[in-house]
Amino acid sequence: MKATMIVDKDFTIGEVDKRLYGSFIEHLGRAVYGGIYEPGHPSADEQGFRTDVLELVKGIDVPIVRYPGGNFVSGYNWEDGVGPVELRPKRLELAWRTVEPNLIGLNEFVDWCRKANSEPMMAVNLGTRGPEEARQLVEYSNHPSGSQWSDLRVSHGYKQPHGIKTWCLGNEMDGPWQIGAKTAAEYGRIAAESAKVMRWVDPSIELVACGSSSLNMPSFPEWERTVLELCYDQVDYLSLHQYYGNRDKDTANFLAQSMGMDSFIHSVIATADYVQAKKRSKKKIHLSFDEWNVWYHSNDADARIEPWSVAPPQLEDVYNHEDALLVGSMLISLLKCADRVKMACLAQLVNVIAPIMTANGGGAWKQTIYFPYMHASLFGRGTALVPLVSSPKYDAKDYTDVPYLDAVAVHNAEAGEVTVFAVNRHLSEALPLEIDLRSFGACRVLEHLVLESDDLKAANTQDAPDRVAPHARGGAEADGGAVQARLGRASWNVIRLK
Ligand code: AHR
Repeated sequence: MKATMIVDKDFTIGEVDKRLYGSFIEHLGRAVYGGIYEPGHPSADEQGFRTDVLELVKGIDVPIVRYPGGNFVSGYNWEDGVGPVELRPKRLELAWRTVEPNLIGLNEFVDWCRKANSEPMMAVNLGTRGPEEARQLVEYSNHPSGSQWSDLRVSHGYKQPHGIKTWCLGNEMDGPWQIGAKTAAEYGRIAAESAKVMRWVDPSIELVACGSSSLNMPSFPEWERTVLELCYDQVDYLSLHQYYGNRDKDTANFLAQSMGMDSFIHSVIATADYVQAKKRSKKKIHLSFDEWNVWYHSNDADARIEPWSVAPPQLEDVYNHEDALLVGSMLISLLKCADRVKMACLAQLVNVIAPIMTANGGGAWKQTIYFPYMHASLFGRGTALVPLVSSPKYDAKDYTDVPYLDAVAVHNAEAGEVTVFAVNRHLSEALPLEIDLRSFGACRVLEHLVLESDDLKAANTQDAPDRVAPHARGGAEADGGAVQARLGRASWNVIRLK
């Protein structure tokens, strides 16, 4: 058994937008309270932000963070989260059945983003609210001063406008679980009208319309067609959301699920391009895969949480080694479509289905999925290259012809580096890999990082935070323009070449 891969610097997919490595903080569970914010924690800064968490976020280099939801945003009044903290209301939060204390809101979140070297990606509420509140929020955030809402921001101590560039027009509006869920026609119209007035307030912003909540929604892809026919000219991106799980304890099938993500992306591109053709438009719609991850471990525990508490431990998936492999493959899927997928958000960032976990009052640690996400963000910037892969294959329950080798390469011309990201999906055998670098000529291996584990179910916890961690003993070797590597069974590999 052996796999080969050819990469050529002229066979490009497209430029990787750094926002492909975005993430997400929702007012949900302990993402905000006990996650990024915990006044009184030994590491808290003057604003109550946990600096231990900030360091872990900075370790990934997260360029953009979606906020404040998620399902939360569809019942949210953004005004509740600005101005003097002591005057902010405590609200029943219907999406997650908690009490929202509004100690953190827009301004504090923007401050946190600056500290994390990140940019906010703001979502507006199109569930219970509409264009009027959305345009007011843009005015509050981005207008310099001299108007009601911009002056209110100045009076709250933020003289400079926040300059928030990227805005999501609601969240998962196709889902019956969403507060104020809509039909595609209802949503397409409200998205168009909201986008129009938001852009009239600030013409520099970019707008993301809601696509389907998952590949399995009965209204997919008709939702995409109808929505885009109604708001094509007003928006720049269409969103995709997808989560996977291994509920059937079938790891071979679980690891193949990124093939579903590939076909989801291609179907959305086809639908967007159909609408482009129908409209005789020159404009291409890009994709924002603004929620993606593994999510299933915490489902049972969540069903037992009592409603109406502040920041309960919701959606606290403890990720194992096999989850990290699928996350690696999902990153490869995003890179393989880097010409059209310009933004993506690993959902989420801290405590809630997250790469970073904390204990209230205690430590912060990296879950297994932290590592592929960090590697891709740090080394996956530049131009994505077409991966000409030849690999032995297997059949799984839901997918046939699944290649054991899942791989892509990124060329960072500025640094003079090529990085190959590769997953060996084989659960019991190592996979020899030969990479033909053709036009790159002779190169050397800078490092071959590997995430592997004897136990597919091994996880990092507060007591054993380093149980699963990458090592640099992969052993790939270069000989001129050819690289030989051995990919351990069920492993994530990062081969950095110069
Ligand atoms: O990320 C968790 C939830 O998943 C989000 O709130 C929602 O948009 C999606 O269903």
